[in-house]
Amino acid sequence: MKILVINGPNLNMLGTREPDKYGTKTLKDIEEFILQEAKKLNVEIGFYQSNIEGEIVSKIQEAKGNFDGIVINPAAYTHTSVAIRDALLAAALPAVEIHLSNIHTREDFRKISLTAPACLGQITGFGANSYKLGLIAIVDYLKSL
Ligand code: DQA
Repeated sequence: MKILVINGPNLNMLGTREPDKYGTKTLKDIEEFILQEAKKLNVEIGFYQSNIEGEIVSKIQEAKGNFDGIVINPAAYTHTSVAIRDALLAAALPAVEIHLSNIHTREDFRKISLTAPACLGQITGFGANSYKLGLIAIVDYLKSL
């Protein structure tokens, strides 16, 4: 089983970016944490981060046939990107949306996710654990098919 973990804009800045909201772990720390969980679950992981909407769209399109599922933190594109939502629907791969912070307790514009309706569900507010929980959720779903 192969899972693609996608991170959107500014998540390459984790560690120093607004640590009060996003914690002090870098993206590399989080990727290592995900790999530890993946080992336990016996799944392969591919990582992708981009600050560019179209690149994320292309990566989702390419995932079809190469991955079994997606864990995605679309970051700010969560709230704006019809293109990423459409790419998730077009690829028709099971996906789980995750967020480090709880988007529902923040500014009103963050409470709306355009991308979550194209996913199985959303995990939000558990810091780096959101990635772990997202991975467990997608693997559990794929195993149940
Ligand atoms: C985020 C929440 C988004 O609103 C924000 O734009 C991000 C990070 C999160 O993981 O909490 O960049 O996706």
